[in-house]
Amino acid sequence: MGTLSVRKPVIVVNFKTYPEASGQGALAIAALCEQVSVETGASIVVAPPLMDLAVVASKVKIPVFAQHLDGVPSGSTTGHVTVENAKASGAAGTLVNHSERRLRISEIHELIDRTRASGLLSIVCTNNLAVSRACAAMEPDFVAIEPPELIGGDISVTTANPKIVADTVESIKTISRNVGVLCGAGVKNGRDVAKALELGADGVLLASGVVKAKDRKAVLLDLVSGLKD
Ligand code: G3P
Repeated sequence: MGTLSVRKPVIVVNFKTYPEASGQGALAIAALCEQVSVETGASIVVAPPLMDLAVVASKVKIPVFAQHLDGVPSGSTTGHVTVENAKASGAAGTLVNHSERRLRISEIHELIDRTRASGLLSIVCTNNLAVSRACAAMEPDFVAIEPPELIGGDISVTTANPKIVADTVESIKTISRNVGVLCGAGVKNGRDVAKALELGADGVLLASGVVKAKDRKAVLLDLVSGLKD
């Protein structure tokens, strides 16, 4: 079963709902991430499609995150995926408020509280400094700054907007020392990862750079090379 803690610095691979990263594809990419993590000692987290979470978590030892959960209690709530459901399926944590799955602030707060109470980790995605600050005050495990206009593109946030990364790191430090900072959008290679760490981030969150790669292992090894000094 996937481990329940996340070592920094970390590379978080979000599979989104890409068809090639669903079902058997999700298992294959997660297994590759695990292999690279074991071979290099790098901290890698995977976030497969929700439907694949349980089976992926039963097969790999690296942490497996949900891409989104519903902040409702378990029990008499039909058609939701609760924090307790995810925990029972082997999740180590969840993304919250991804740009492609935005929530209201009260829902973000509810989810952070529920994950903490259940012993799961939370990575709250944010789109600007004000939202990052507001979310950091709720003390999730990580805030991940991702300018929406750069998501899925070829230019990394660390190149297109290094200031937003540095400002987020700086600002969150003044709010809580317990909140890690990730950055994402357009991250593709080891240079982008190294730059993220240089800007003070604790790691990166990425999707298409891995999922869409022709040689995923080569890309993962390159990404991981950016974690080294
Ligand atoms: O969750 C990561 C994501 O939003 C960034 O996507 O494809 O730009 O790495 P991508």
